[in-house]
This record gives sequence, C-alpha cells and structure tokens, in this order.
Amino acid sequence: MNDRRDFFKKIGVLGLSSIAAKLSSNNKLEAIDSIANHANTNDAFTLPKLQFEYNALAPFIDEQTMIVHHTKHHKGYVDKLNAIQSTEINYKVDDITKCRLIEPQPIGNINLRNNLGGHVNHTLFWELLKPNPKAEPNFPKTNLAEAIKIEFKSFEEFKKQFSESATKHFGSGWCWLIKQNGKLMIVTTPNQDNPFMRTSATDKIKNEVVIALDVWEHAYYLKYQNKRADYISNWWNIINWEKAETFYTNSK
Ligand SMILES: [Fe+2]
Repeated sequence: MNDRRDFFKKIGVLGLSSIAAKLSSNNKLEAIDSIANHANTNDAFTLPKLQFEYNALAPFIDEQTMIVHHTKHHKGYVDKLNAIQSTEINYKVDDITKCRLIEPQPIGNINLRNNLGGHVNHTLFWELLKPNPKAEPNFPKTNLAEAIKIEFKSFEEFKKQFSESATKHFGSGWCWLIKQNGKLMIVTTPNQDNPFMRTSATDKIKNEVVIALDVWEHAYYLKYQNKRADYISNWWNIINWEKAETFYTNSK
C-alpha cells in the first residue's frame, strides 16, 4: 500500500485532505466520486458491480457481450490501473478530485491515461444503461429533454447528429453528450480519453458528461460484427434517461 500512497502523492499536487474536501463539495457524479475516493484512500480500484443482470439489456446488447465487456475489458483496465507503480508516473494531475485533468509531460504516462480513462468511462457507461427495456424507447419529459430540444431543435435531430458522430468516429473511442460551460454539445474522444481530460490549453473549459456511448468494437462485435450503426441504433432503446437527467441536473 505504500507504493499506492506514494503514487497518489506523486501525481497529486493537492494534499490528500484538501482533495477529500473538494471531493465532497464539487463532485456530483457518484461514479466519479467513487473512483476518486479510491484514489484518496489508498485502496485498490475495484470493478463496480452492475446494477442489472448481464442479460437484462437483450436483445439490444446480448448477454455474452456484456459478460466479456464487464468481466474482461473493464476489469482489465482496473487491474492494469492497480498495477501501475509509482516509479512509472510521469504525470501532472492538478485536479484529481474528479480524475479530470491529465496533462502529458510531454507525452505522459499513456498507461495511466488509458487505464484510468477506461475505468472512468466504463463506470459511467454502465450507469447510463437501462435494463429490461420496453418495446418503445421512452424519452421522458425532463429538464434534459427540454434542453436538448432547445439546443438541437428537436430530439430527432439530436439523435441523428449523435448517431452520425458515433458512427463516423474513426477507430476505437467514445461519443458523448456533454455540458461544456453550460452548453450541450456532442463530442467524440479517441481510445479511452474522455471529456474530463484537459490540458493547460483547455484548462478553462469545464465539461460534464450527460450521456456516454462506447464505440469500441468490443462493445458490439459479438452481436453486430462490423455494423456499428446497428449497435448505435439499438442503443437508443437502453439509455437510462433518469440517470442522464441526474447527470444533467447536477452538472454546472
Ligand atoms: Fe468498452
């Protein structure tokens, strides 16, 4: 555990006590809170338990894909994150309170970036999936729904733009609906990067995640093979809009 303590002392420019104070006051995303708290307390990062059965997203995401995705891919990021030794760290992290700012120095520790990103991203992804989907996707009348209509003119237009961004993203990565300095935007990130990651050039930009979609092939290949567009089309049936509303409402 000493290695772990040294590791987080080394990557954090804030003292642990002030990090804890900021955690409780600033961070409204429980998933990220949980991960940052693990960093804070020197505990090993852990694979979160899903709030639903592996077959609960069928037929849109099949059971085998969910098992492999959660117990192999996500667990792989967690295991590799826990294996990172203090001597490997060559990062400046000045906002570990939200696992948010990771600035390569100059290239950065790609091992940390990929595996911390993978852990954060998948933790959010699972929370934003709704089990036992109904036949008709239910887009609730919420504050988020109203904001989407204002920003994108209509829900259908938002769905079209998001689907296009996710489908056209080259290679592995993620598609996000974020709130950037208060404005809803669709963005994609490569590999396991996420909108929380900032550099000194983008330090003034504040991104909050509202919706997350994994477009790595491991998220869909067993059922959909190369048909990413079909996977995305079906994913709209299993979005947890209640959770998205919480993320939207709690973001600044
Ligand atoms: Fe994934």
